[in-house]
Amino acid sequence: MSAMEEKELEKGAEPSVDDDWNPVEKVILERRSVRYYKPKQVPENLVRRILEAGRFAPSAGNYQPWRFIVIRDRDIIDAMERDIRMMCKMLKPILAWESSPLGPVAKLMSKTLTWFLPNKLHHEPYGAINAIADGEVGVFHGPPTLILLLMDKRGAGKPQVDLGCCGQNIVLTAHSHGLGTCWVGFVELLRQNPIWKKRLGIEYPYELCEGISLGYPVGKPDGMIAREAYHTRWFENGTMKVVV
Ligand SMILES: Cc1cc2nc3c(=O)[nH]c(=O)nc-3n(C[C@H](O)[C@H](O)[C@H](O)COP(=O)(O)O)c2cc1C
Repeated sequence: MSAMEEKELEKGAEPSVDDDWNPVEKVILERRSVRYYKPKQVPENLVRRILEAGRFAPSAGNYQPWRFIVIRDRDIIDAMERDIRMMCKMLKPILAWESSPLGPVAKLMSKTLTWFLPNKLHHEPYGAINAIADGEVGVFHGPPTLILLLMDKRGAGKPQVDLGCCGQNIVLTAHSHGLGTCWVGFVELLRQNPIWKKRLGIEYPYELCEGISLGYPVGKPDGMIAREAYHTRWFENGTMKVVV
């Protein structure tokens, strides 16, 4: 932070806190990822309504580069979970090269993977891969319904951003109906798996992008939890101020 920004902050750029949130803001601020679900199934019409909210998301050039797959068969969700766990078990000895029996080969593979996939092999997902491999955490967290988001690879601009908008509409709408959701990025470990592509009917130009678990939450994980505050530079009328 520059000296000028620091000075601005000292001047008392307080975070603006307003308790009088409107219903949309409340939904945004109160949504939390849900990792425990009741077995009760979500009514079909409600799932369709939630997908409709996804369909109305903005997208570059209005290309709408998404398709959905809804899975409400426990057998299928369990089988996907097993295969993702297996993938994590395979990745673990490569990524945890320091303790790997593969020695320098594992180190080379790990460094190469991290070089090519710096975001995916960030320490957070890396830690999660270990935890999933060891059975310490689940993949889908046992939802009665799983929504898979498919991305049209030909999408204009940055289709991943469009998919993010679409998924956010889905999770916020679900929350507004008293449902819980959790994004599951780990489904991408099945993206190249020909067995799953065939079983789910995923063909070019679509690819498996994200999963969203959906169901009635156990307990109340929701509530406003603190997020990091950032300094925002604000240029107006020839001056610059820093707001938090
Ligand atoms: C694209 C994306 C992928 C995610 N993948 C996973 C996942 O695989 N497993 C999981 O438990 N949570 C996953 N999450 C949830 C994040 O961990 C969670 O959003 C974050 O910790 C903030 O917590 P909150 O959602 O409760 O506010 C994912 C979130 C996003 C946006």
